[in-house]
Amino acid sequence: MTDLQVRKMRFAFADYDVPFLWNEENPAFSSMANAVSFLAIGFEKMIVNMIREAMPLITDPEVAEEADAFVRQEGQHSTAHRQHANALIRRYPGLQETLNEVIAEFDRLTVNTPVEYRLAYTADLEATFTPVFKLMLDNDSTLFRPGDDRVASLFIWHFVEEVEHRSSALIIFDSVVGSDVYRMRMAPSIFRHVLKVIRLACAGFNVHVPLEERKVDALSMFANYRRRQKLRKWLPFLEAEDNGPMPRAFDHLPLREQLVALVGIIRSQLPKHNPDHEKLPALADVWFERYEAGYDVSHWYTADTVAR
Ligand SMILES: [Fe+2]
Ligand SMILES: [Fe+2]
Repeated sequence: MTDLQVRKMRFAFADYDVPFLWNEENPAFSSMANAVSFLAIGFEKMIVNMIREAMPLITDPEVAEEADAFVRQEGQHSTAHRQHANALIRRYPGLQETLNEVIAEFDRLTVNTPVEYRLAYTADLEATFTPVFKLMLDNDSTLFRPGDDRVASLFIWHFVEEVEHRSSALIIFDSVVGSDVYRMRMAPSIFRHVLKVIRLACAGFNVHVPLEERKVDALSMFANYRRRQKLRKWLPFLEAEDNGPMPRAFDHLPLREQLVALVGIIRSQLPKHNPDHEKLPALADVWFERYEAGYDVSHWYTADTVAR
């Protein structure tokens, strides 16, 4: 029997303006997280269609139950990210076009690729989440705490539930496809697609959100783009546009922790990877305890002050 719990969460995004630069101390991370919100909407829509298609192929009732709980958690994430994205679109209407492009990228996968490929996509990408989100949650004091509490609480909730269901996508993939070779063979094209979608979102941010408000070249997380932009200073004939400063989201984090995350990402793609054995972020346990105790996790850093 699965332990996954489906938690409905709302973050009051409609109550007052949601800034693009939701953590003013870290414009690069603010922009990156906004791109994750856009990606999550398209990705989770693809997951919903994929599980519908895969369900008749799942013969083990325990795996079917896991798949059902998994897809319902993802559905909740998607709803909350839509509310976040809608708030950004209200302020920067051009971003609707960007969101449509991101969703269309995933719709194309749904239409053009076999369900086996999308199961591998989900298993591969979700396997990277635990090491990546551990890095972020272990450093919540700089990445999330200084930011808009609604946005911070959305990501903290989403990331701890990704840690909670870290094995689900692999369990489902193994039950329907069950080939590490196939999963590894597809990995390059899968991660090319992930990067393409993030790039699409970031390019849209550069076009539709004024630099004074985003404070960062949203594309600066891509190393090849950074190199080209640096060259531009020396070779003016390249005529690349100046889209703003290029700070990096994680530069201030301990190098050792960054390397551990990187090794974790690589390990997550190897055969026989078992996410059950992953080191988990301490914040996840705190979150589940507080949730059980009835704490208002939709105001992670301000619930106490609101209640008083
Ligand atoms: Fe999710
Ligand atoms: Fe997930």
